[in-house]
Amino acid sequence: MDAILEVVKPHAVLIPLPAQGHINSMLKLAKLLHFKGFHITFVNTEFTHKRLLKSRGLNALDGLPDFKYESIPDGLPPTDVDAAQDIQSLGESVKKTCLLPLRNLLAKLNNSASSGVVPPVSCIVSDGVMTFSIKAAQELRIPFVVFRTISACGFLCYAHCRSLLDKGTIPLKDESYLRNGYLETEVKWIPGLKNIRLRDYPSSFRTTDPNDMDLDFLMGEGDRTSQASAIILNTFDELESDALNCLASMFPPIYTIGPLNLLVNQIPQNNLVSFGSNLWKEDTECLQWLESKKPRTVVYVNYGSNTVMTPDQIIEFAWGLANSRKPFLWVIRPDLVDGGSEILSSEFFNETKDRGLIVSWCPQEQVLSHPSIGGFLTHCGWNSTIESLSWGVPMICWPFYFEQPTNCRFACTEWGIGLELASNVKRDEVQKMVNELIEGEKGK
Ligand code: UDX
Repeated sequence: MDAILEVVKPHAVLIPLPAQGHINSMLKLAKLLHFKGFHITFVNTEFTHKRLLKSRGLNALDGLPDFKYESIPDGLPPTDVDAAQDIQSLGESVKKTCLLPLRNLLAKLNNSASSGVVPPVSCIVSDGVMTFSIKAAQELRIPFVVFRTISACGFLCYAHCRSLLDKGTIPLKDESYLRNGYLETEVKWIPGLKNIRLRDYPSSFRTTDPNDMDLDFLMGEGDRTSQASAIILNTFDELESDALNCLASMFPPIYTIGPLNLLVNQIPQNNLVSFGSNLWKEDTECLQWLESKKPRTVVYVNYGSNTVMTPDQIIEFAWGLANSRKPFLWVIRPDLVDGGSEILSSEFFNETKDRGLIVSWCPQEQVLSHPSIGGFLTHCGWNSTIESLSWGVPMICWPFYFEQPTNCRFACTEWGIGLELASNVKRDEVQKMVNELIEGEKGK
C-alpha cells in the first residue's frame, strides 16, 4: 500500500545555489512542501554535501523515505572543506558542469519511479541563478518554478539592469558615473524603487571591474526565468508591495511565502527539524552566554557567509564595539578577513573580555529571537534581513555586495528598521551607531 501511495505523491526536486543563504531558504521551502505532502529530492553539490556532513558531525544525510538528499559535481577543483567557495567561480562552473549530471539524476529518479520506488518527478524548484536546472526541466518537459532567495526590491533591480543590458546599455558601469560622484544620483526611472540612488544598486552593476559577476548568472538568464510556471520569493506583500506590483507586470505569477523562517517554525516538530543546513559547525555555547545578559542589551554582529573584509576594516569594527562598552556577540568566520582572521590584538581581548564573545558560526535564528539581543550589525544578506525584521531586531547595515546595498537602502529608508554604516568603516561611527541602537531612540 505504501508503494502505491508513494506513486501518487507529487515529487519536487529542489536545486539551490550551493551558498549558505540559498541552501537555508531552499531547505525551508522543501520542508514546507514536504509538510504539504510532497516527496522531496534535495540536490546539493558534492562539495556542499561534504561540508554539511562535516559541520553537523553526522555520518550521513540519510533523510527520510520521502525526503532524500542527492548530490552532483560542481566542476571546481577540490578545496579546503572549511572555506566558503568563491561565488563567482562557483557560478561559472555550475553553469558549465551541472546540466549533464542533473539530467542523469532526473533520469535515475524517473527510472526508479517506473518500479514504484518513488513518485515520478512532477516539478523542479530551481534557484533562479542555477539556470542549468531550468534548462534540464525544459528539455525533459518537467514543469518548473523559480525560487529567488533575494528580496523583491533586489530582484527588481536585477531585472531592471537586465533590461538595460538587453538594450545594450549599462550606464551604471560607465566610468563617468563613478568619477563624478553620480552614485548619489537618485534613479527615477524605475517604478517600485522610489528614492533609490545608483549606489543602492547591486554592486555588480556599479563597478567597472571586468571580472565582475556576470549578469546572466545574477539575473538567471532573464528569459529563462520568464518561462517558469511561477516565481517564488521569500518576502511578503505588506513589506514590498511596490516592488512586487512592478515585478507582476514583468514576470510569471509571483508567490510570496515569507518570512520563511516564521512559516517553517509553524510546522509540527518532527524529525525534519534535525535537517540543518549550516556549512559551518554552530557554536551553541553562545546561547548560554546570552542567558546571562539583560534584555535588549547585546549587539549581535554577523556578516553572512561570503563577505570578506580587510584587516583595517575588522580592526575598526573591533574598536568601535569595544569603545561602545556594550556587550557583543560577534561571529568571525575563519575566512572573513583577507589574509586570515587571527588579526585582533590581545589588547582588544583584554579590554572586552568582560563583555564580548567571539564565535566562528552560531545558530543565528535562535540568537535573533533571544531576548538579550538589542541590535544586529549585518551585511544585509536577504535571509539575515528578513530574519531580523521578523524577530523585531533593529539593524546597523553594512552591505558588502550583490543586492545587499538595495536591502540596506530599503531597511534604512522605506522600512525604518536600520541605520546605514559607511562602507569605509570608522570605529567612532560604529561606536555611535551601536549606542544609538541599544540606548537611543532609533533602536526602540
Ligand atoms: C547570500 C548573498 O550574500 C545575499 O546577498 C543574498 O541575499 C542571499 O545569499 P549570505 O551571505 O549567505 O547571503 O547571507 P544571508 O542571506 O543572510 O544568509 C545567511 C544564512 O545563514 C541565514 O539564514 C542565517 O540565519 C544563517 N547563519 C548565518 C547562521 O545560521 N549562523 C551564522 O553564524 C551566520
